Amino acid sequence: MKFFNNAWNWFEDRTGLMGALWPIMTHAVPKNSASWFYVFGSATMFAFLLQIATGVTLAFMYVPSAGEAYQSLEFITNQTTFGRIVRGLHNWGASAMILLVGLHMIRVYLTASYKFPREMHWISGVILLSLTIIMAFSGQVVRWDQTAVWSTIVAAEQAGRIPFIGTWVADFLIGGETIGGATLSRMFAYHVFIVPALLIIFLVFHLYLVIKNGISEFPKAGEPVDPKTYREKYEASVKRDGVPFWPVAAWRDMVFGFIVITTILLIAVIIGPPDLGAPPNPSNIDALPVPDWYFIFYFAFLALMPPPMETVLMVFGPLLVGALLFALPFISNRGERSPLRRPWAIAMVALTIGSISGLWAIGISSPWSPHFDAKPLTIEIIGADSGPVYRGGEHFNDKGCLYCHTISGHGGLRGPDLTYIGDRLSADELTWRIMNGGLNMPGFGGTLSNVELSDLVMFLKTRKHINPQPSSSGGD
Ligand code: HEC
Repeated sequence: MKFFNNAWNWFEDRTGLMGALWPIMTHAVPKNSASWFYVFGSATMFAFLLQIATGVTLAFMYVPSAGEAYQSLEFITNQTTFGRIVRGLHNWGASAMILLVGLHMIRVYLTASYKFPREMHWISGVILLSLTIIMAFSGQVVRWDQTAVWSTIVAAEQAGRIPFIGTWVADFLIGGETIGGATLSRMFAYHVFIVPALLIIFLVFHLYLVIKNGISEFPKAGEPVDPKTYREKYEASVKRDGVPFWPVAAWRDMVFGFIVITTILLIAVIIGPPDLGAPPNPSNIDALPVPDWYFIFYFAFLALMPPPMETVLMVFGPLLVGALLFALPFISNRGERSPLRRPWAIAMVALTIGSISGLWAIGISSPWSPHFDAKPLTIEIIGADSGPVYRGGEHFNDKGCLYCHTISGHGGLRGPDLTYIGDRLSADELTWRIMNGGLNMPGFGGTLSNVELSDLVMFLKTRKHINPQPSSSGGD
């Protein structure tokens, strides 16, 4: 015991670390900031530390090469002792980090902690949010399955639309003109070196600011922020009835952080990592890549945009959101902080959560993707059991039309509903459309024989409001 004491004294004498850190750990914070509302920031940091630990572990075995990445992840998942759990931790840890960052942001916004003198806390926070999103995105790409390749295509597509510099940005992002080995090397470098380094730098800055300006007090209605008097008042109140950060305020952070990490661990052990998608194969059109849940809402947003607005929304949508987030503490850095006096702040949060969940729900059912398990048209719907109309109906089932088009409730929603197409298009127009395809519809000119084509057209011509078929409207 004495030996350890002496060793510790020697270490402290030579480094002075404890002497420097202890006052910071125990500095006084506002009494009412010791609250369960204030635990999300530290929990985000704990989730990030977990990501570093599990990420470094994965990097020991992962091979960042287009030919081997997928196999190396399969190996980690199935052949190593703890690989499945470590991948699970890293995957669910990412989800937790995104959720917690969101909760932390909502709390800071609702308590208006971004107001004077904490504007830079918010701005460094917005940078940390963007870096976290880039981490999540690049993490999905280095998984290098169908989803990975597909997400990269979407991102490159989006970048490519930026006026003037678009092509250059897209090239920079994917490392050349096509997605391949160079893309993966690049994403790997972003994911394990550049972005984590930036995250750590901005996190340290963020924490430094919290110590420099103090944790914001829980707002009371009727106590507006006035930059002229705020600091004085804050210091006086902390002096009057402040509590030491450690342990009085920080024990809640510890307890909540512990719950978060334990929950991630439980999910990682019980559910495990998500199945690796199919290996990447750009020629496989049956692939139905689904992005990780935190991106689904955004893909839904992109998919729902009317094509003429696409470029504008794709490029300027995220820029606008980013600009608004950056501008917030400059738009209002004084006045009431209490959410009770800022009902529009509550409305904003409700609106954001509402639209994200709405888009998310649409994204889950993804009406814009071909529907590969659509139920084939029945004889009743086709309305004939032999002859050209019958054969046309069968071709509709076999040739893939069904994946994208619905007739009487059967089929996918990628293309227009064709239940009454016979009313709208003439036989010539139908032939032309099927031969040549259209926006998001492949042309079938090369794959259908003349008889098949004319059968299909005959069949589609019977799809009218008044037609001999029994009105059937079964869902699928
Ligand atoms: C990959 C999905 C997809 C497949 C497969 C597909 N279509 Fe389409 N189809 C579409 C889309 C999307 C449109 C709308 C095109 C546009 O607006 O330019 C469309 C348009 C049409 C139209 C015109 C509809 C209108 O309201 O003007 C017809 C007719 C049609 N498809 C028939 C077929 C037939 C027959 C097949 C099978 C041989 C088929 N499609 C296969 C996606 C698909």
